[in-house]
Amino acid sequence: MTRPRLVGLSANVQRPSKTRTLVEAVLGEVARHATVDGRVVDLVDAGPGLGAAWTRDQLPLPARRVIEAIETADALIVGSPVYKGSYTGLFKHLFDLVDPGALANKPVAVVATGGGARHALVVEHGFRPLFGFFGALQVPTAVYASETDFTDGALTDAAVRARVVQAGGQLAALLAAARGQSAPAALTAAG
Ligand SMILES: Cc1cc2nc3c(=O)[nH]c(=O)nc-3n(C[C@H](O)[C@H](O)[C@H](O)COP(=O)(O)O)c2cc1C
Repeated sequence: MTRPRLVGLSANVQRPSKTRTLVEAVLGEVARHATVDGRVVDLVDAGPGLGAAWTRDQLPLPARRVIEAIETADALIVGSPVYKGSYTGLFKHLFDLVDPGALANKPVAVVATGGGARHALVVEHGFRPLFGFFGALQVPTAVYASETDFTDGALTDAAVRARVVQAGGQLAALLAAARGQSAPAALTAAG
């Protein structure tokens, strides 16, 4: 059996990025439970042509590649910085150009970072409806981290790290189920 493709999409527009760090952390956690072909794609890799494309056929090659990576993944970790109380406009624009059927029944974990804790529930009331539209299999635990949860660019807050562990385990279990495998032993034992 081929290794499942796990794609992390981080909608950061700057590097280094706390959002990317969070996406990578969840990906690393999934990889502890399952053998995956994992990679993280930054939205900036889509290039400035993404914002200029109103339709899919106007997309330049780098942006098309990002969308194709999302559509052909077996599971996704999607992350965005919070801008003005929501995911960024480019994050939404990218998903506006994703085939509406491409994420149906696909396991998806959601993460976001913000300057403070005020917008922590954006993962619940902002991201979930979008991936509900796509009919994705969203993991129960969404992860939000604030500026103070990082030290020198590393995720250090224990509570957020615990949610990363939870979300990664849940994504690994959903991925296994979607591929007709039983959940990894460590996850069933943990209950
Ligand atoms: C245009 C803009 C709008 C922002 N709006 C919010 C906001 O509404 N709420 C919040 O908590 N942080 C807000 N922030 C802060 C970013 O969400 C935060 O710094 C984030 O962690 C950056 O992620 P990154 O390191 O991946 O780029 C905003 C930042 C920018 C540049």
